[in-house]
Amino acid sequence: MWRKLENLNKIVQTGIVLIIRSESEQEALKVAEAAIEGGIQALEITMSVPNALDVIQILAKKYADSGILIGAGTILDGETARAAILAGAELLVSPHLNHEIIKVANRYQAITISGAFTPKEIVETLEAGADFVKLFPAEGLGPQYVKSIQSPLPQAPIIPTGGVTPQNVSEWINAGCVGVGVGSYISKAAQKDGDFDKVTVAAKEFLQAVAIVR
Ligand code: 3PG
Repeated sequence: MWRKLENLNKIVQTGIVLIIRSESEQEALKVAEAAIEGGIQALEITMSVPNALDVIQILAKKYADSGILIGAGTILDGETARAAILAGAELLVSPHLNHEIIKVANRYQAITISGAFTPKEIVETLEAGADFVKLFPAEGLGPQYVKSIQSPLPQAPIIPTGGVTPQNVSEWINAGCVGVGVGSYISKAAQKDGDFDKVTVAAKEFLQAVAIVR
């Protein structure tokens, strides 16, 4: 199957893109491994992680044959987009619309999740050729915003990010989101005591919460 379609399916089928914004390279690797153990199939290492490109490279090699979609997040420009792709990222996530990022990603058939907040930004994101619209920051907007947006723009594949939890994810999915971006609930689960089994448990819990509502 066309690799990009396989990768798109991983996001749509599980409904979760995990955001790993750890304070060290080692922590990011441990979080990724524990979350994958819990069933996560699509994740982004944000560029704020120290040596993020190295982390991406290690994970992309390690999971090359296992069907896990390794991505890069907080991509702000085309140069970083290309560097992330060269490191092995097949998913690029940005908090805002940047045409160069989408152009580079489409050249290599990497998936883009591009940030937008207003109806104008959402339409421009679709016109630019992004695969998904990252509704960000989603906390302040709430699921009702997605319902309102989807009346005139039912074609927008929206992935809200910021403040999504197993407790409120059903509201986002029921509002019409194709999936959600999840950061701290899973990736910070081991922060207090360094018990990365808690990341695995949180990932399972989240995936289950999405599966129930679908
Ligand atoms: C991020 O970019 O780190 C996201 O906004 C994470 O949001 P969350 O931690 O509330 O899931």
